[in-house]
Amino acid sequence: MTPETIDVIVARRTQPADGIIVLDLVADADTTLPPFEAGAHVDLHLGPDLVRQYSLCGDPFDRSHYRLGILLATKSRGGSATVHRAIHAGDRLQIGLPRNHFPLATDAQQTVLIGGGIGITPLLAMAYHCMRGGKLFALHYCARAHAKAAFLDELAAEPLRSKTQLHFDDGDPAQRFDPRRDLPEPSPDTHLYVCGPAAFMDWVVKEARNRGHADLHIHREYFEAEVDKSGDGFKVRLANSGRIIAVPAGISIVKALSLAGIQVDVSCEQGVCGTCMCGVIEGVPDHRDSYFTEHEKAANDQILLCCSRSRTALLVLDL
Ligand code: FES
Repeated sequence: MTPETIDVIVARRTQPADGIIVLDLVADADTTLPPFEAGAHVDLHLGPDLVRQYSLCGDPFDRSHYRLGILLATKSRGGSATVHRAIHAGDRLQIGLPRNHFPLATDAQQTVLIGGGIGITPLLAMAYHCMRGGKLFALHYCARAHAKAAFLDELAAEPLRSKTQLHFDDGDPAQRFDPRRDLPEPSPDTHLYVCGPAAFMDWVVKEARNRGHADLHIHREYFEAEVDKSGDGFKVRLANSGRIIAVPAGISIVKALSLAGIQVDVSCEQGVCGTCMCGVIEGVPDHRDSYFTEHEKAANDQILLCCSRSRTALLVLDL
C-alpha cells in the first residue's frame, strides 16, 4: 500500500440492473475508511497500468463502507470489463483516497440533481448529503429502460422516495424528463448538477441555459467524452528545467512528454477526470476537455495534458 491508496475488501457484489454491478467496499482489518464528500470518486487499481475512476454513490455520512455502481461500457477500454469479469465478493483491492472534482455548492438554497444512466452515482451521494442537512433538493433519474436502472429499491424507499422522480425512455411519454417542466426557475440560490452520457448532459445543460440558469450554477461531471485530437503541432517548455519539447500533430502533450522521458499521472485520458491537470505560465491553451467549466477555461491558467492543445506556438508549463 502507498500513502495514496488504501486496501479494501469487496464485502458485497450485486447486479441490480442490466449491465450494472454494485460493489460495497469495506476497510481491511483494523482500519477505517476515510470520510468522503458527496460527488467524490476513487481510483480503482485494477492492474499495473489499469486505474479507473468511479463515483462514490453511498451515503457520505455512513463510513462503514464505500459503494460503487459500475456500468459495463460498450466500448470498455478494459476497466469496466475487468471489474465485471474479475471482481467478486471477498476480493481485496487497492483504491485511491476519495477526491472530489464535483462538489456541492455550500450556499445553495435549492439543489436539483439530474442523472442520466450511470450518471446517477455521484448524485445519489449528493441526495443523501442534502437530505441529512435538511436542504431543499430534488433528484431526477433518467434511464433508457426500467431494466437498465439501478438503485431502484433505494430510491423507492424513504427518505429518498419523496424527493425522487424516475424517467424511463420506454415508459409513458408523460413521465419522461421534460426540462421545461422539471427544471426549476433560475435563481441566485439554485444550483443544478448534471451527470450522464455526453449527449444527455449537453441537452440538459443547453435547456438549463435557455431557461436562464447561470453557467456557474450548472455543475456537470462527464464520465466519458470524445477527444478532438486534430490541430497543428506546437512546443511546450517545462518551467522547472527549461526543457523544450515538441508536441507534433496527432500526439497528446502527455505522449510527447512520455517520449521525452517525462511521466505525467493520467487516468481517464479523455479530459474528464482532472488527474493530468497542470498550471500554464505562458501561452494560451486550446482546451479540449469536459472537465473545466467555461469560466476556468477562460482563465487559461491550467491545462489538461492528456487532451488539450495550444493556441500559441509555445506553452510554458508549471512542470
Ligand atoms: S487523465 Fe483524466 S483529464 Fe487527463
